[in-house]
Amino acid sequence: MNALPLSLADRTVFVAGGGSAGPGWSIGRAASVTYARLGARVCVVDRDAASAAETTALIRAEGGAAETFVGDVAEEAEIARLFAEAREHFGPIDVLHHNVGIGKTGGVLDTDVRDFDAAHNVNVRSLLLASQQVLPSMVERGRGAIVTVSSVAGLRYIGYPHLSYSVSKAALIQFTRMIAQQYAGSGIRANCVVPGLIDTPRIAHTVAKQFSADSLDDARAARARQVPMQRMGTAWDVAHACAFLASDAAAYITGTELVVDGGITGKYA
Ligand SMILES: NC(=O)c1ccc[n+]([C@@H]2O[C@H](COP(=O)([O-])OP(=O)(O)OC[C@H]3O[C@@H](n4cnc5c(N)ncnc54)[C@H](O)[C@@H]3O)[C@@H](O)[C@H]2O)c1
Repeated sequence: MNALPLSLADRTVFVAGGGSAGPGWSIGRAASVTYARLGARVCVVDRDAASAAETTALIRAEGGAAETFVGDVAEEAEIARLFAEAREHFGPIDVLHHNVGIGKTGGVLDTDVRDFDAAHNVNVRSLLLASQQVLPSMVERGRGAIVTVSSVAGLRYIGYPHLSYSVSKAALIQFTRMIAQQYAGSGIRANCVVPGLIDTPRIAHTVAKQFSADSLDDARAARARQVPMQRMGTAWDVAHACAFLASDAAAYITGTELVVDGGITGKYA
């Protein structure tokens, strides 16, 4: 017998953003694989068909159950189609893992309003669309879990302006708390994972640029030095927190934030 009820056997998980911005382990990919290792059927959803298919292939190679669904979760018509296809394939969704996140760096005067809107649409508004898809059947079945992925940038100023991203990630935290309050009596839990500085392929495109370093490795090292634990987190560090919150091991946990950051939030308190 397992000491903790971490199993997700016979559960279907919808991972919005299960691909990766580049080769290697993104948070959505590591979470998808972790859910499958715990026995879940995983709907790997991403607008990047090739990277979603790669996640699905990794799961299947380990004997897990996964299917790829390609589309933009920030578009109303697309998300209705994606959920219809996912339900058709694996049945009702037990866990929604809201992983998509975008954002350009910049402060008030150098943030284009279109980029601000895009960050809001992908990071926050898409949770409204996805929640509207999953909550009715979760209520009907009397169970469900929603795990959202915010960022320490939604809690603190982390050393450089990342306005559209930070504001949307802050909104995501409160959105998650609101779902939790409204649906706690219906057997549905909603919690937010708040990652710190995580070493995923995406940082090569975005945050590494904030460090005046000659190479990506130097930028990664500078980023690691910011963290009290002296290392960036791995996608697995975050995935494990997501899996805990999605599972019955977190049966009495709702409306909270689980910060996975090697101590960096305390440093900027
Ligand atoms: N990497 C970090 O340091 C870090 C830190 C804190 C929070 N986060 C958050 O964790 C999450 C995952 O980060 P990551 O570093 O693994 O990033 P990532 O870019 O590799 O993963 C996000 C995935 O979402 C997909 N996606 C984006 N918009 C989409 C849309 N509209 N429809 C469908 N798919 C879409 C992308 O194609 C990508 O595969 C994001 O929400 C990010 O903001 C990351």
